Parts: sequence; C-alpha cells; structure tokens
Amino acid sequence: MNILVLGRGKTGSLVAEVARERSHRVTVMGGTDNPGASALTPAKLAAIEVVIDFTTPASVLKNVEACIQAGKNVVVGTTGWYGELARIQRMVEQSGSGLLHAANFSIGVNLFFDIAHSAAAALQHQYFGQVFERHHAHKKDAPSGTAVALQRIIRDASGTDLEITSFREGDVVGMHELVLDSPADTIYVCHDAKSRRGFAEGAVRAAEWLADKKGFFDFKDVWRKL
Ligand SMILES: NC(=O)c1ccc[n+]([C@@H]2O[C@H](COP(=O)([O-])OP(=O)(O)OC[C@H]3O[C@@H](n4cnc5c(N)ncnc54)[C@H](OP(=O)(O)O)[C@@H]3O)[C@@H](O)[C@H]2O)c1
Repeated sequence: MNILVLGRGKTGSLVAEVARERSHRVTVMGGTDNPGASALTPAKLAAIEVVIDFTTPASVLKNVEACIQAGKNVVVGTTGWYGELARIQRMVEQSGSGLLHAANFSIGVNLFFDIAHSAAAALQHQYFGQVFERHHAHKKDAPSGTAVALQRIIRDASGTDLEITSFREGDVVGMHELVLDSPADTIYVCHDAKSRRGFAEGAVRAAEWLADKKGFFDFKDVWRKL
C-alpha cells in the first residue's frame, strides 16, 4: 500500500520503519511539512491509500478532518482528542471513509484491557480501585489516553469511576496499573511496555486491515481479527 505517516517523532518514525519492513511504500511528514494540515489536500493525497497519524493533541483533529474530507482512510494513534470522538464519528459516517483509532495499539495492552474488564467485578465486592500510569517526561497529555480508556472500561463494567494518578519521569515508555484493594488482599493488574515497537506493529497491521473498510472502528474491537 501507499501509506502516509504523519509525525516524525518517537512513534511515527518507528511506524514508518515497520511499514517499510512490511513492504509498504511509505511517505512521512513532520510538523514543518504539514502546518495546520495544509499538506492534506485531496490532490496531494490522491495516491495515498491509508494515512497513519502519530502527531500531537493540538494537530490531530485538523489532520483527521482533512483526511476525511479527502475521502481517505485514517488510523489515529495520537491521544488527547477524545472529547471530539462523537463529532468525528459522525463526520466519518457521513463521508463514507474509514477511521480506526486506539489509545494504545499494542496487543498486550488490549489483552490487559480484557483482564481489567474481568477484574472490575471486584468493585462489587468491597474492593477500592485506583489507576496509576507512568510515562516519559516529554509526554504532552495527562492522564494518558490508555489510562482514560482503562477508566472507561472499568466504568462500563462496574459503574464505578476510578481516580487516575499520573507520573512523568525519565524515559518510561508506558506503564499502566489497576490496583484493587480490600481489607483481605490487594490485586495488581499491570502492563509495562518495553519499547514502542508493539504500538508501531499494531498500527501498521490496523492500517492493512482498514484499507478496504468504511466506518468508524475502535482497535479494541478489531485486534483479535488481525
Ligand atoms: N495509540 C498508541 O498506541 C500510541 C503509542 C505511542 C504514542 N501515542 C501517542 O502518539 C502521539 C505521538 O507520540 P510521540 O511519542 O511519537 O510524540 P513526539 O515524539 O513528540 O512526536 C510528535 C510528532 O508530531 C509531529 N507533528 C506535529 N504536528 C504535525 C502535523 N500537523 N503534521 C505532521 N506531523 C506533525 C511533530 O513534528 P514537529 O516536531 O516537527 O512539530 C513530531 O514529530 C501522542 O499523542 C502519544 O500519546 C499513541
């Protein structure tokens, strides 16, 4: 496929590397190539089959809107824009394009979400729950999109909104922990990413899956089919 990767940062550059390893033709744009989504016109996107966005919370919405208007399918890895999810879903459905998003494209984290969903039953049995997340000092949004997704999963499973505590330090790739504490015992459910490679591979495989689809998709509903 012809893939356009938006973002030359820590994750975008690895996504481009993985996509090339999987024999795709890859173009990459950073912030200076695409200010205010100005490079994402229908003419400039004509040869592109899927766009993958790993940019910033400040740029992602304009990028996504431009891709949808150009009728291009887009995989969104950037976090920090979920207040606009319903509006973007309507836009995608009206335009007939395809969008797949995830706060976390690693298969391990999506399994961790399933385990957390089961563990949420503890909240009906006098357990007190908390979410902790730890990331590198340069991360722009807090709490992390993954922690917000975990909070939503627990809320849907149990009706309880857990507090999220964020730590920003060093070069931590991404650690998420659900702690369920009772007078009798404590349950720890933890995912600790060792590198960004899991995110990059998940995002490229998501782009391959999305290529011939239309509609609005969440990776947590799709990863088992990849
Ligand atoms: N879903 C997942 O699995 C997952 C995994 C890891 C990270 N993330 C998320 O992905 C995003 C990026 O993370 P990161 O660690 O890679 O950040 P990063 O290293 O800071 O990289 C962000 C990149 O976005 C570029 N950019 C900004 N505006 C742009 C635009 N309009 N067009 C094209 N590129 C633009 C920046 O370029 P300039 O420096 O030139 O402005 C920079 O290269 C964050 O929201 C993060 O939370 C998600």
